[in-house]
Formats: sequence, C-alpha cells, structure tokens
Amino acid sequence: MIRQLTLEKHLQRYSETVTQGLAVAAAVDAIAVAAVEIAELTGRGALSETSGLATGRNSDGDLQRDLDVQADAILRRCLGKLPIAAFASEEMREVEIGAREARICVAIDPLDGSSNIDINMTVGTIFSILPAPDDLDLAFAQRGTAQLAAGFVTYGPQTSLVLTLGDGVDIFTFDRAAGCFRLARRGVRIPDTADEFAINASNRRHWDPPVRAFIDECLAGADGPASRDFNMRWIGSLVAEAYRILTRGGVFLYPSDARPGYGDGRLRLVYEAHPIAFIVEQAGGVASTGRERILDLAAHSLHQRVPLIMGSSGEVRRVEQLHCDPLPAVSAPLFAQRGFFRL
Ligand code: F6P
Ligand code: MN
Repeated sequence: MIRQLTLEKHLQRYSETVTQGLAVAAAVDAIAVAAVEIAELTGRGALSETSGLATGRNSDGDLQRDLDVQADAILRRCLGKLPIAAFASEEMREVEIGAREARICVAIDPLDGSSNIDINMTVGTIFSILPAPDDLDLAFAQRGTAQLAAGFVTYGPQTSLVLTLGDGVDIFTFDRAAGCFRLARRGVRIPDTADEFAINASNRRHWDPPVRAFIDECLAGADGPASRDFNMRWIGSLVAEAYRILTRGGVFLYPSDARPGYGDGRLRLVYEAHPIAFIVEQAGGVASTGRERILDLAAHSLHQRVPLIMGSSGEVRRVEQLHCDPLPAVSAPLFAQRGFFRL
C-alpha cells in the first residue's frame, strides 16, 4: 500500500542517499510543518483573526493581504530553525543571507493565489531549494536546472504537498486524522496531449500574435487546425492550475502582454516559475516562455517576472512553434478577412 508511506519516511530515505540530502529533507520537513499551520489558518476563514483582506502592497507592488504576511511569518519561523545560507520570499524586498556554512538556499512564495483567499478557493505555498554557491550574492541567480528540490502545497479541499527531489514527482496528502502527510500519488506523469487550456482571457487584446493564434486555435476546436475541441479553466491561483495539469494535463499560459508592467508576464521566476517548471518537467511536461526553456533561465533580480507557458508537451510545443514560425503563415486562417476572430 503506497499510502502507508509518510512524507517523513520518504524524506529520511532520500536524505541517506544524496549529498545535501539531509539539508534538503530538513527544509522540506519544515515547510510541511508550516503548511499544516497555514492550512489551519486558511481553513478557518472568517473565524480566524485574519481577514484575508488587503492590508498593503509588497515590495513588488502586488496587493498584500494579512494572510500573505502571516503565512510568510509561519514559514520563516519553521525554516528559521535550520541552517540556510540564503533565504528569499515574495514578501521580502531583499535576499536574507544566513549561515555561511549552510548547504542550501530556499526561496518561497508563502501564499500563492492570495486574491482567492476571501472567496474560499484553493491557494498554496511554493518553494524552491538550491545549492549554496560560494558567492551568496548569487544564491538566486542560478539557473532553474540547479534546483535540488521544489514543490508546492495546496490549501483546498485537501492539503497536498507536491514534491520533486529531482527524481519524479510525488504527491503527499495531509491525513488529518493521523496528523501527517501520506503518499497519495507516486511518479505523477502529465499526458503528452490534453484538451484543456487556461489563460486569463480578459487580457486578449493585449496579447502578442502567437498567443492569440494559439488561443484562437483552441477556441476554433474541431473546426480549426487542432481538429479537436478544448475546454477552458482559469482559477487565478498558479498552484491550483499546476495541480490540475499534473492530474489531467492541459496547458497554462501567463504570457507577456502589452499592458504596462506586463512585458515579462506576471509570474516571478525565482519562486514561482522555476519551481513549477522543475515539477512540470519532472512529470514529463514542458515549461517555456514561448521561446526559451524556463529552467535554462537565471534571474538577474529577485522579483524578476517571466512569461510562463507550461503543461502537456504537445500543447506547449505548439505555442513555441507559433512563436518561432513566421506569423502570417500561422495566423492567416484565423485572422484573415473572413477569419473566426478578426478584430
Ligand atoms: O502569484 C500570482 C498569481 O496570483 C497566480 O497565482 C495566478 O496564476 C495569477 O497571479 C493570476 O493573475 P491574474 O489575476 O492576472 O489573472
Ligand atoms: Mn504567487
């Protein structure tokens, strides 16, 4: 029975086999402890002291809610007991340098999708664990391929921790009765092709032509070049979208667009796109900007944004193809004088 395997046991086995394994396992364990507390807090909703309402803006200008701040504090408290060389959070302006002799660096998005808090929708915590480089100023300037581990926790109907330690993706669900995370799915695989897409379509008029061309293909369904119908979902919470894609495939796009400040999309490279891309690749999917592999990128600033297109390889590769091909050839049928979606 795979469900007998607890996260604790899984981490213990891993820590015995890999260099830096102990440090990584301790960090994942601390995040899991914090996640249980955050799940309790988000689960109490209006019954807790925290309102879930906006209280200010973070260093990058995003609305910050009191739960964002509390989730950040809980994670810091749990991770603060460990030797960590450099620590970064969406809620912090700068990287915090810690124990110089420590072997790992940790970056977190404490509460992803926090605009969904007050409407009782799934939110989550994302994390990325990197080796400590000699120059700690470059801790989070490493390529995504350097990650030792990455994961996210969803606070929804289930509290589940999706984890890669660089050897596939496993999902551990919090067993409320037993008070521990237990393996729920081992070796998750994203199907190569699937008929579901996710994008915030309210931004359509700001998209670049390749993104429009792809979505137009999806909308044209069986009558268009894809020759099959698609379904659409947009949750507005990256962790929930990623969980869905790990479960049944599909493609998620948060592309760059022409709105001021969205030239590189919305999502952050270090603590959103890198860890999600690592998980997606480890599950057999693809994560791309449309032109480049996300894991090949290295951040030049902590809160750097990046376009993120991820999911089933067939769909993501099609988006990449539309970015590379000369546009008239790909968009002509849909944007022509009598096309489906001529604006
Ligand atoms: O962290 C950013 C985030 O909340 C993601 O979870 C989500 O995918 C995205 O923003 C939603 O953005 P928008 O409100 O522009 O659709
Ligand atoms: Mn986020």
